[in-house]
Amino acid sequence: YRKREVKVGQFLTRYGGEDEYADVDWDKLGFGLMPTDCMYVTTSTNDGSFSVGQVLPFGNIQLSPSAGVLNYGQGLFEGTKAIRRENGRTVLFRPAQNAIRMQMGAERLCMLSPSVDQFVDAVKQTALSNKRWIPPPGKGSLYIRPLLIGSGPILGLAPAPEYTFIVYASPVGNYFKEGRAPLNLFVDDEYHRATRGGAGGVKTISNYAPVLKAITRAKSRGFSDVLYLDSVNKKNLEEVSSCNIFIVKGNVLSTPAINGTILPGVTRKCIIEIAQHHGYKVEERQIPVEELLDADEIFCTGTAVGVASVGSITYKNKRVEYKTDSKSVCREMYSTLIGIQTGSVEDEMGWIIEI
Ligand code: COI
Repeated sequence: YRKREVKVGQFLTRYGGEDEYADVDWDKLGFGLMPTDCMYVTTSTNDGSFSVGQVLPFGNIQLSPSAGVLNYGQGLFEGTKAIRRENGRTVLFRPAQNAIRMQMGAERLCMLSPSVDQFVDAVKQTALSNKRWIPPPGKGSLYIRPLLIGSGPILGLAPAPEYTFIVYASPVGNYFKEGRAPLNLFVDDEYHRATRGGAGGVKTISNYAPVLKAITRAKSRGFSDVLYLDSVNKKNLEEVSSCNIFIVKGNVLSTPAINGTILPGVTRKCIIEIAQHHGYKVEERQIPVEELLDADEIFCTGTAVGVASVGSITYKNKRVEYKTDSKSVCREMYSTLIGIQTGSVEDEMGWIIEI
Protein backbone atom coordinates (compact mmCIF):
# COMPACT_ATOMS: atom_id res chain seq x y z
CA TYR A 1 0.00 0.00 0.00
CA ARG A 2 1.13 3.53 -0.64
CA LYS A 3 0.35 5.77 2.28
CA ARG A 4 -1.72 8.72 1.23
CA GLU A 5 -5.44 8.82 0.62
CA VAL A 6 -6.68 11.07 -2.15
CA LYS A 7 -10.06 12.72 -1.67
CA VAL A 8 -12.58 12.85 -4.50
CA GLY A 9 -12.18 15.85 -6.74
CA GLN A 10 -8.46 16.14 -6.15
CA PHE A 11 -7.24 14.88 -9.47
CA LEU A 12 -3.68 14.34 -8.40
CA THR A 13 -2.10 13.51 -11.68
CA ARG A 14 1.24 12.63 -10.16
CA TYR A 15 0.03 10.95 -7.04
CA GLY A 16 2.56 8.18 -7.20
CA GLY A 17 5.55 10.49 -7.57
CA GLU A 18 6.83 13.52 -9.42
CA ASP A 19 7.83 11.61 -12.54
CA GLU A 20 5.79 11.87 -15.68
CA TYR A 21 6.10 8.12 -16.18
CA ALA A 22 6.19 5.13 -13.85
CA ASP A 23 9.27 2.95 -14.05
CA VAL A 24 8.01 0.48 -16.66
CA ASP A 25 9.61 -1.09 -19.74
CA TRP A 26 6.94 0.22 -22.09
CA ASP A 27 8.19 -1.93 -24.98
CA LYS A 28 7.34 -5.12 -23.09
CA LEU A 29 3.69 -4.50 -22.25
CA GLY A 30 1.31 -7.41 -22.71
CA PHE A 31 -2.08 -7.92 -21.12
CA GLY A 32 -1.07 -8.64 -17.54
CA LEU A 33 -1.87 -6.94 -14.26
CA MET A 34 0.63 -4.27 -13.27
CA PRO A 35 -0.54 -2.79 -9.97
CA THR A 36 -0.81 1.01 -10.22
CA ASP A 37 -1.10 3.76 -7.61
CA CYS A 38 -4.82 4.21 -7.02
CA MET A 39 -8.27 2.70 -7.23
CA TYR A 40 -11.71 4.26 -6.87
CA VAL A 41 -14.10 2.73 -4.33
CA THR A 42 -17.69 3.46 -3.34
CA THR A 43 -20.32 1.42 -1.51
CA SER A 44 -24.10 1.51 -1.81
CA THR A 45 -26.10 3.29 0.85
CA ASN A 46 -29.46 2.41 2.37
CA ASP A 47 -31.27 4.84 0.08
CA GLY A 48 -30.28 2.80 -2.96
CA SER A 49 -27.57 5.07 -4.34
CA PHE A 50 -23.78 5.00 -3.96
CA SER A 51 -21.82 7.15 -1.55
CA VAL A 52 -19.32 9.69 -2.83
CA GLY A 53 -16.40 7.63 -4.04
CA GLN A 54 -12.87 7.74 -2.70
CA VAL A 55 -9.62 7.37 -4.54
CA LEU A 56 -7.56 5.02 -2.37
CA PRO A 57 -4.20 3.35 -2.74
CA PHE A 58 -4.54 0.27 -4.95
CA GLY A 59 -4.68 -2.82 -2.77
CA ASN A 60 -6.67 -5.70 -1.37
CA ILE A 61 -10.27 -5.27 -0.29
CA GLN A 62 -12.05 -6.88 2.65
CA LEU A 63 -15.11 -9.02 2.04
CA SER A 64 -17.25 -11.22 4.25
CA PRO A 65 -16.94 -14.89 3.23
CA SER A 66 -20.70 -14.72 2.71
CA ALA A 67 -20.56 -11.77 0.28
CA GLY A 68 -23.08 -12.22 -2.55
CA VAL A 69 -20.37 -12.10 -5.18
CA LEU A 70 -18.33 -14.91 -3.61
CA ASN A 71 -21.26 -17.25 -3.06
CA TYR A 72 -23.68 -16.57 -5.86
CA GLY A 73 -21.58 -14.77 -8.47
CA GLN A 74 -23.40 -11.45 -8.21
CA GLY A 75 -20.78 -9.41 -10.04
CA LEU A 76 -20.26 -7.42 -13.23
CA PHE A 77 -17.19 -5.91 -14.80
CA GLU A 78 -16.38 -3.51 -17.58
CA GLY A 79 -13.31 -2.60 -19.60
CA THR A 80 -12.40 0.79 -21.02
CA LYS A 81 -9.17 2.60 -21.86
CA ALA A 82 -7.30 5.85 -21.25
CA ILE A 83 -4.91 6.83 -24.04
CA ARG A 84 -2.01 9.28 -24.03
CA ARG A 85 -1.77 11.26 -27.24
CA GLU A 86 1.31 12.69 -29.00
CA ASN A 87 0.26 16.18 -27.87
CA GLY A 88 0.48 15.03 -24.23
CA ARG A 89 -3.28 15.04 -23.68
CA THR A 90 -5.08 12.09 -22.09
CA VAL A 91 -8.37 10.86 -23.50
CA LEU A 92 -11.08 8.35 -22.61
CA PHE A 93 -13.05 6.49 -25.24
CA ARG A 94 -16.87 6.30 -24.88
CA PRO A 95 -16.94 5.47 -21.14
CA ALA A 96 -20.67 6.26 -20.95
CA GLN A 97 -21.31 3.20 -23.13
CA ASN A 98 -19.72 1.04 -20.45
CA ALA A 99 -21.76 2.77 -17.78
CA ILE A 100 -24.98 2.01 -19.63
CA ARG A 101 -23.96 -1.61 -20.19
CA MET A 102 -23.19 -1.98 -16.48
CA GLN A 103 -26.66 -0.66 -15.67
CA MET A 104 -28.21 -3.22 -18.02
CA GLY A 105 -26.19 -5.97 -16.36
CA ALA A 106 -27.15 -4.75 -12.90
CA GLU A 107 -30.80 -4.88 -13.85
CA ARG A 108 -30.38 -8.49 -15.05
CA LEU A 109 -28.59 -9.54 -11.83
CA CYS A 110 -30.82 -7.56 -9.42
CA MET A 111 -27.96 -5.27 -8.34
CA LEU A 112 -27.75 -1.57 -7.60
CA SER A 113 -25.57 0.27 -10.10
CA PRO A 114 -23.89 3.70 -10.17
CA SER A 115 -25.36 6.46 -12.32
CA VAL A 116 -23.75 7.12 -15.70
CA ASP A 117 -22.25 10.33 -14.32
CA GLN A 118 -20.76 8.64 -11.28
CA PHE A 119 -19.37 5.82 -13.41
CA VAL A 120 -17.72 8.20 -15.90
CA ASP A 121 -16.39 10.37 -13.08
CA ALA A 122 -14.93 7.27 -11.39
CA VAL A 123 -13.19 6.24 -14.62
CA LYS A 124 -11.78 9.77 -14.98
CA GLN A 125 -10.49 9.82 -11.43
CA THR A 126 -8.92 6.40 -11.83
CA ALA A 127 -7.16 7.50 -15.04
CA LEU A 128 -5.94 10.80 -13.63
CA SER A 129 -4.76 9.40 -10.32
CA ASN A 130 -2.76 6.77 -12.25
CA LYS A 131 -1.59 9.10 -14.99
CA ARG A 132 2.05 8.10 -14.80
CA TRP A 133 0.98 4.54 -15.69
CA ILE A 134 -0.60 5.58 -19.00
CA PRO A 135 1.87 4.29 -21.61
CA PRO A 136 3.64 6.71 -23.96
CA PRO A 137 1.88 7.28 -27.30
CA GLY A 138 2.02 4.18 -29.48
CA LYS A 139 3.09 1.84 -26.66
CA GLY A 140 -0.32 0.80 -25.34
CA SER A 141 -3.03 2.19 -23.10
CA LEU A 142 -4.22 2.24 -19.51
CA TYR A 143 -6.85 -0.49 -19.29
CA ILE A 144 -9.48 0.57 -16.78
CA ARG A 145 -11.53 -2.12 -15.06
CA PRO A 146 -14.79 -1.02 -13.36
CA LEU A 147 -16.13 -3.78 -11.11
CA LEU A 148 -19.53 -3.96 -9.44
CA ILE A 149 -19.96 -6.65 -6.78
CA GLY A 150 -22.55 -7.83 -4.32
CA SER A 151 -20.37 -7.12 -1.29
CA GLY A 152 -22.99 -7.53 1.42
CA PRO A 153 -23.34 -10.84 3.31
CA ILE A 154 -26.14 -13.19 2.29
CA LEU A 155 -26.78 -16.88 2.94
CA GLY A 156 -30.10 -17.66 1.27
CA LEU A 157 -30.17 -17.15 -2.49
CA ALA A 158 -31.22 -13.52 -2.83
CA PRO A 159 -29.75 -10.17 -3.93
CA ALA A 160 -26.94 -9.00 -1.63
CA PRO A 161 -27.84 -6.23 0.86
CA GLU A 162 -24.89 -4.03 -0.22
CA TYR A 163 -22.92 -3.34 -3.42
CA THR A 164 -19.41 -2.06 -3.95
CA PHE A 165 -18.20 -0.32 -7.10
CA ILE A 166 -14.44 -0.39 -7.62
CA VAL A 167 -12.41 0.94 -10.53
CA TYR A 168 -8.77 -0.08 -10.95
CA ALA A 169 -6.36 0.13 -13.84
CA SER A 170 -3.30 -1.45 -15.41
CA PRO A 171 -1.13 -0.40 -18.36
CA VAL A 172 -1.53 -2.88 -21.23
CA GLY A 173 -0.26 -3.65 -24.70
CA ASN A 174 -1.59 -6.37 -26.99
CA TYR A 175 -4.12 -8.80 -25.55
CA PHE A 176 -2.94 -11.87 -27.41
CA LYS A 177 0.57 -13.26 -27.11
CA GLU A 178 0.54 -13.28 -30.93
CA GLY A 179 0.79 -9.47 -30.71
CA ARG A 180 -0.82 -8.09 -33.86
CA ALA A 181 -0.23 -11.28 -35.88
CA PRO A 182 -3.41 -12.95 -37.22
CA LEU A 183 -5.22 -15.26 -34.80
CA ASN A 184 -5.90 -18.94 -35.34
CA LEU A 185 -9.31 -19.76 -33.90
CA PHE A 186 -10.86 -23.10 -33.02
CA VAL A 187 -14.62 -23.62 -33.25
CA ASP A 188 -15.67 -25.56 -30.16
CA ASP A 189 -19.01 -27.30 -30.50
CA GLU A 190 -18.83 -29.02 -27.12
CA TYR A 191 -18.57 -26.07 -24.73
CA HIS A 192 -20.77 -22.99 -25.03
CA ARG A 193 -20.34 -19.47 -23.76
CA ALA A 194 -23.99 -18.62 -23.17
CA THR A 195 -27.44 -20.12 -23.28
CA ARG A 196 -30.82 -18.79 -24.27
CA GLY A 197 -32.46 -17.08 -21.30
CA GLY A 198 -29.12 -16.93 -19.46
CA ALA A 199 -26.89 -13.91 -18.91
CA GLY A 200 -24.60 -14.03 -21.96
CA GLY A 201 -25.85 -10.63 -23.06
CA VAL A 202 -24.47 -8.85 -19.99
CA LYS A 203 -20.94 -8.59 -18.68
CA THR A 204 -21.31 -10.74 -15.61
CA ILE A 205 -18.19 -12.27 -14.10
CA SER A 206 -19.89 -15.66 -14.32
CA ASN A 207 -19.67 -15.71 -18.13
CA TYR A 208 -15.91 -16.02 -18.02
CA ALA A 209 -14.81 -18.93 -15.77
CA PRO A 210 -16.88 -21.45 -17.77
CA VAL A 211 -14.90 -20.77 -20.96
CA LEU A 212 -11.51 -21.33 -19.34
CA LYS A 213 -11.73 -25.06 -20.03
CA ALA A 214 -12.39 -24.53 -23.73
CA ILE A 215 -9.65 -21.88 -24.01
CA THR A 216 -7.12 -24.10 -22.20
CA ARG A 217 -7.87 -27.01 -24.50
CA ALA A 218 -7.65 -24.88 -27.65
CA LYS A 219 -4.38 -23.27 -26.53
CA SER A 220 -2.85 -26.65 -25.75
CA ARG A 221 -3.55 -27.54 -29.38
CA GLY A 222 -1.82 -24.39 -30.63
CA PHE A 223 -4.88 -22.18 -31.28
CA SER A 224 -5.14 -18.57 -30.14
CA ASP A 225 -8.70 -18.76 -28.81
CA VAL A 226 -12.14 -20.33 -29.19
CA LEU A 227 -15.08 -19.35 -31.35
CA TYR A 228 -18.36 -20.54 -29.79
CA LEU A 229 -21.57 -21.71 -31.45
CA ASP A 230 -25.12 -21.30 -30.17
CA SER A 231 -25.96 -23.89 -27.55
CA VAL A 232 -29.37 -24.86 -28.96
CA ASN A 233 -28.55 -25.88 -32.54
CA LYS A 234 -24.72 -25.80 -32.43
CA LYS A 235 -25.04 -24.11 -35.78
CA ASN A 236 -24.75 -20.32 -35.55
CA LEU A 237 -21.72 -18.24 -34.67
CA GLU A 238 -21.78 -16.52 -31.28
CA GLU A 239 -18.50 -14.90 -30.19
CA VAL A 240 -14.93 -15.56 -29.11
CA SER A 241 -14.09 -15.95 -25.37
CA SER A 242 -13.24 -12.29 -24.85
CA CYS A 243 -14.49 -10.51 -27.99
CA ASN A 244 -17.13 -10.25 -30.71
CA ILE A 245 -16.65 -11.50 -34.25
CA PHE A 246 -17.23 -10.04 -37.73
CA ILE A 247 -17.14 -11.81 -41.07
CA VAL A 248 -16.45 -9.94 -44.31
CA LYS A 249 -17.71 -11.01 -47.72
CA GLY A 250 -17.29 -8.46 -50.49
CA ASN A 251 -18.71 -5.16 -49.35
CA VAL A 252 -20.75 -6.67 -46.51
CA LEU A 253 -19.73 -7.02 -42.86
CA SER A 254 -21.83 -9.40 -40.76
CA THR A 255 -21.83 -9.96 -37.04
CA PRO A 256 -24.12 -12.06 -34.80
CA ALA A 257 -27.22 -10.09 -33.78
CA ILE A 258 -27.67 -9.10 -30.13
CA ASN A 259 -30.19 -11.71 -29.03
CA GLY A 260 -29.47 -12.28 -25.34
CA THR A 261 -26.45 -14.56 -25.79
CA ILE A 262 -24.13 -12.04 -27.48
CA LEU A 263 -22.33 -9.37 -25.49
CA PRO A 264 -23.14 -5.90 -26.91
CA GLY A 265 -19.50 -4.87 -27.28
CA VAL A 266 -18.59 -1.19 -27.31
CA THR A 267 -15.94 -1.85 -29.99
CA ARG A 268 -18.48 -3.94 -31.93
CA LYS A 269 -20.81 -0.95 -31.94
CA CYS A 270 -18.00 1.41 -33.02
CA ILE A 271 -16.98 -0.86 -35.90
CA ILE A 272 -20.58 -1.11 -37.12
CA GLU A 273 -20.78 2.70 -37.14
CA ILE A 274 -17.35 3.17 -38.78
CA ALA A 275 -18.07 0.53 -41.44
CA GLN A 276 -21.41 2.13 -42.34
CA HIS A 277 -19.73 5.53 -42.47
CA HIS A 278 -17.13 4.07 -44.87
CA GLY A 279 -19.86 2.78 -47.22
CA TYR A 280 -19.96 -0.89 -46.19
CA LYS A 281 -23.21 -2.72 -45.65
CA VAL A 282 -23.46 -4.11 -42.11
CA GLU A 283 -25.73 -6.97 -41.20
CA GLU A 284 -26.51 -7.98 -37.62
CA ARG A 285 -28.03 -11.42 -38.02
CA GLN A 286 -27.76 -15.14 -37.41
CA ILE A 287 -24.60 -16.45 -39.09
CA PRO A 288 -24.52 -20.20 -39.84
CA VAL A 289 -21.10 -21.71 -39.19
CA GLU A 290 -20.90 -22.80 -42.87
CA GLU A 291 -20.46 -19.13 -43.82
CA LEU A 292 -16.93 -19.38 -42.44
CA LEU A 293 -16.10 -21.47 -45.48
CA ASP A 294 -16.48 -18.71 -48.03
CA ALA A 295 -15.81 -15.52 -46.04
CA ASP A 296 -13.04 -13.24 -47.34
CA GLU A 297 -12.00 -12.03 -43.91
CA ILE A 298 -12.78 -12.58 -40.26
CA PHE A 299 -11.89 -10.24 -37.43
CA CYS A 300 -12.53 -9.89 -33.70
CA THR A 301 -13.44 -6.76 -31.75
CA GLY A 302 -13.26 -5.91 -28.06
CA THR A 303 -11.85 -3.30 -25.73
CA ALA A 304 -8.98 -5.50 -24.60
CA VAL A 305 -8.51 -7.18 -27.99
CA GLY A 306 -9.02 -4.06 -30.12
CA VAL A 307 -9.58 -5.07 -33.75
CA ALA A 308 -7.72 -8.33 -34.37
CA SER A 309 -7.49 -10.10 -37.71
CA VAL A 310 -8.12 -13.83 -37.92
CA GLY A 311 -5.79 -15.81 -40.16
CA SER A 312 -7.50 -19.18 -39.87
CA ILE A 313 -10.45 -20.96 -38.32
CA THR A 314 -10.56 -24.70 -37.68
CA TYR A 315 -13.94 -26.42 -37.48
CA LYS A 316 -14.39 -30.20 -37.42
CA ASN A 317 -10.76 -30.72 -38.50
CA LYS A 318 -11.11 -28.41 -41.50
CA ARG A 319 -8.92 -25.32 -41.48
CA VAL A 320 -9.97 -22.29 -43.54
CA GLU A 321 -7.62 -19.37 -44.14
CA TYR A 322 -8.50 -15.71 -44.58
CA LYS A 323 -7.09 -12.56 -46.10
CA THR A 324 -5.15 -10.48 -43.57
CA ASP A 325 -3.08 -8.10 -45.73
CA SER A 326 -2.64 -4.36 -45.42
CA LYS A 327 -5.57 -3.72 -47.79
CA SER A 328 -8.01 -5.75 -45.71
CA VAL A 329 -11.25 -4.33 -44.30
CA CYS A 330 -9.97 -5.37 -40.88
CA ARG A 331 -6.90 -3.15 -41.30
CA GLU A 332 -9.12 -0.26 -42.44
CA MET A 333 -11.36 -0.66 -39.37
CA TYR A 334 -8.36 -1.00 -37.04
CA SER A 335 -6.59 2.08 -38.42
CA THR A 336 -9.72 4.20 -38.23
CA LEU A 337 -10.54 3.19 -34.66
CA ILE A 338 -6.96 3.62 -33.44
CA GLY A 339 -6.74 6.89 -35.38
CA ILE A 340 -9.81 8.29 -33.61
CA GLN A 341 -8.40 7.22 -30.25
CA THR A 342 -4.92 8.61 -30.84
CA GLY A 343 -6.08 11.76 -32.62
CA SER A 344 -4.77 11.13 -36.15
CA VAL A 345 -8.35 10.63 -37.45
CA GLU A 346 -10.97 13.28 -36.74
CA ASP A 347 -13.47 12.28 -34.06
CA GLU A 348 -16.60 13.12 -36.06
CA MET A 349 -18.81 11.00 -33.80
CA GLY A 350 -17.86 12.70 -30.52
CA TRP A 351 -16.48 9.52 -28.96
CA ILE A 352 -13.48 11.08 -27.24
CA ILE A 353 -13.46 12.69 -23.78
CA GLU A 354 -10.35 14.68 -22.99
CA ILE A 355 -9.49 14.63 -19.30
C1 COI B 1 -12.55 -6.33 -22.49
O1 COI B 1 -12.36 -6.45 -23.70
O2 COI B 1 -12.46 -5.24 -21.94
C2 COI B 1 -12.94 -7.48 -21.67
O3 COI B 1 -13.53 -7.25 -20.67
C3 COI B 1 -12.55 -8.85 -22.01
C4 COI B 1 -11.76 -9.49 -20.93
C5 COI B 1 -11.87 -10.97 -20.99
C6 COI B 1 -10.32 -9.07 -20.94
